[in-house]
Amino acid sequence: MTVSVEQTSVGPRRHGSAAEAEVLRAHAEDAFAAELAALAAQDDRPRPARWRLSPWAVATYLLGGTLADGTVITPKYVGPRRIVEVAVTTLATDRALLLLGVPGTAKTWVSEHLAAAVSGDSTLLVQGTAGTPEEAIRYGWNYARLLAHGPSRDALVPSPVMRAMADGTTVRVEELTRVPADVQDTLITILSEKTLPIPELGQEVQAVRGFNLIATANDRDRGVN
Ligand SMILES: Nc1ncnc2c1ncn2[C@@H]1O[C@H](COP(=O)(O)OP(=O)(O)OP(=O)(O)O)[C@@H](O)[C@H]1O
Ligand SMILES: [Mg+2]
Repeated sequence: MTVSVEQTSVGPRRHGSAAEAEVLRAHAEDAFAAELAALAAQDDRPRPARWRLSPWAVATYLLGGTLADGTVITPKYVGPRRIVEVAVTTLATDRALLLLGVPGTAKTWVSEHLAAAVSGDSTLLVQGTAGTPEEAIRYGWNYARLLAHGPSRDALVPSPVMRAMADGTTVRVEELTRVPADVQDTLITILSEKTLPIPELGQEVQAVRGFNLIATANDRDRGVN
């Protein structure tokens, strides 16, 4: 049996379920679902491959505004328009985005909203720490399956980065500079060659159009890489 990267993920998200009503903090795409739907409905500008909205609509979602039908989009980011426009243009041209700055300046906040607006999903997330292993960026193994059946796609546990590559969506890497330098280097092949080799299987996962990465980093951390 072969299982795709998609099927090995944790499972479908429970949109609209009773559990969702009880969550302490809803994801951006759930909390602002009505605004995103209104933007998508009225957005007739061209959308890059697998984007839920056009770059214009993504910028409007972040900066706020009033749509032609009177729907009010609340501003998510308060600050220079230029920053949001540069961020959206960077993503639309297939370049990865790094949000760098002092603590508390909405880097995480903006990255979550960008992922929600561009891909409709802000949950593909790698939290960078001093202990982040390479597996968090590449893939790990389900050791029970690995021992029972040997290396196979079935035994592979994809990272959020691998899932975003396979699906053509946005993945977020939080606190990139806390991640050890050798682990950060894993991103080089992914971002330059747009591929993730799986040498154990003699295979690779090639990024599908629409894949992109948003990293945040703090420039006031001590011991940054
Ligand atoms: N310019 C801004 N516009 C709107 N909200 C902001 C702005 N700056 C800060 N905030 C608010 O501050 C909160 C904290 O920001 P956030 O956690 O994104 O900061 P950060 O830049 O990721 O900080 P750190 O470097 O500590 O991770 C956000 O959730 C947001 O509500
Ligand atoms: Mg942050």
